[in-house]
Amino acid sequence: MNKLTMMWVAILTLGSAHAWAGEEGRVLFEQRCVACHQADASGNAALKAPNLTGLSAAYLQRQLEHFRSGVRGADAADGEGQMMRGISAGLGDGQVSQLSQYVAGLPRVAAAKPAQSASFAGRGLYSGCTSCHGAQAEGFDQLGAPRLAGQHDWYLKAQLLKFRSGQRGSHADDKLGQQMAAMAKGIRDEAMLDALVRHIAGMVAE
Ligand code: HEC
Ligand code: HEC
Repeated sequence: MNKLTMMWVAILTLGSAHAWAGEEGRVLFEQRCVACHQADASGNAALKAPNLTGLSAAYLQRQLEHFRSGVRGADAADGEGQMMRGISAGLGDGQVSQLSQYVAGLPRVAAAKPAQSASFAGRGLYSGCTSCHGAQAEGFDQLGAPRLAGQHDWYLKAQLLKFRSGQRGSHADDKLGQQMAAMAKGIRDEAMLDALVRHIAGMVAE
């Protein structure tokens, strides 16, 4: 082989290894995840499975690792988290990263907006969240804060309640979850929480 041929062989091999990693993620997702999260990963209200589109690979990977190690989803009262914990337990390190890359590369699908979204109270409350989640709830990966825009309102509410009750974000190894739990505990009551969720779910996901 001359130098040029060797270069092409190297490029083709690397290229197909890359394509194969994406293919593995897709196959895994179809086999193990679509039953609840749907083929486009936009979620399923009846199964309480959230929209996974628009979330970064880093956030997805951390959640899967946390479910797998019991940092998230270990509380007996957290039925949905326990289910995800069981599913993640069967994944190897390579599979977790293939799935995270694959899902992060899917087109964003925004959940239906709630009928009544605009409220003065909701907007005011959300101003306490922008420093981490961004003005448009687009998320801020450097801080580990996920995109919230486009997520289902029932899932946002469920997570805020879980952070408040300590079902999520109370494990000693969950530093980012602890930060978020402190924020959720600052929401005074459920009416405020509802106004906040309506506001976030009503935001346009750019
Ligand atoms: C049996 C139904 C079911 C299956 C199958 C399932 N999930 Fe889930 N998933 C859920 C539910 C329900 C939740 C919400 C957990 C909670 O409330 O904390 C969830 C949450 C998640 C989250 C957290 C999202 C966030 O915004 O923090 C990720 C990531 C996730 N699932 C990825 C996957 C992947 C990848 C697979 C396939 C390997 C999968 N799920 C298979 C039901 C399922
Ligand atoms: C100090 C930074 C910070 C602030 C301020 C903050 N958050 Fe978070 N939030 C985070 C981080 C980090 C996570 C991811 C935690 C994890 O990895 O489990 C998170 C996660 C969430 C989730 C879970 C999303 C999902 O997909 O599961 C919701 C909902 C949420 N935040 C809502 C809010 C709301 C509403 C406010 C304002 C009241 C707020 N956050 C303020 C940092 C913050």
